[in-house]
Amino acid sequence: MQITTCVFDAYGTLFDVTAAARLVAEEDPQSAFAKHWPKLAEIWRAKQLQYTWLRAIAKAHTDFWEVTQDGLDFALESLELHQDDSLRKKLLQLYWELQAYPEVPQMLKDLKSLGMNTAILSNGSPNMLNGAVQSAKLDADLDAILSVESTGIFKPDSSVYDLVGKEFSCAKGEVLFVSSNGWDAAAASGYGFCTVWVNRAGDPLDRLPWKPQYIAEDLKVMPTFLK
Ligand code: LAC
Repeated sequence: MQITTCVFDAYGTLFDVTAAARLVAEEDPQSAFAKHWPKLAEIWRAKQLQYTWLRAIAKAHTDFWEVTQDGLDFALESLELHQDDSLRKKLLQLYWELQAYPEVPQMLKDLKSLGMNTAILSNGSPNMLNGAVQSAKLDADLDAILSVESTGIFKPDSSVYDLVGKEFSCAKGEVLFVSSNGWDAAAASGYGFCTVWVNRAGDPLDRLPWKPQYIAEDLKVMPTFLK
């Protein structure tokens, strides 16, 4: 089936989730934080995702901003950085204006010039996603910003992936779903989308019942997956 619709995960796929911690570290390279920032970014992201899965299983949904703060609080305390409230505030503020990966703006323009529908499908709350999209100036090349908030459960619940067909009135096989999260790409394959796993870090493949159709190192090669 011909691909008509390219849908992207947001955090880690279009937006660099490590950018907030890296920018704070660069402000003061001699600080204790500058030594710890990669570990902090790793624990923050891991906890944020774990909390989404646990809340989905336990049917205790809240919005992504809350799990983002909860993940950060866990990470700060685990590295004994939790006494500094201004650090917490700065990291959270930067999460609203995360940098996009450098190839993203041109890649979205190329997809639009090929006639594709383009969208984000993310755990992010609508406000967080709008903030990041506007700060990275991606709004003109995205047809829709779809948030799990309208379903009340996080990925990979299938009701989240249903949002794409509802928005674009397209069949599952027309959708190319792109995520840097191996579990998200895998689950979207199981759902019936054609999928790309963006594996920037060279991680091993997730051991799940489904596999992504394609694996890419970054988003520059996107147009090659449209045939
Ligand atoms: C998202 C998370 C999973 O944007 O990265 O949905």
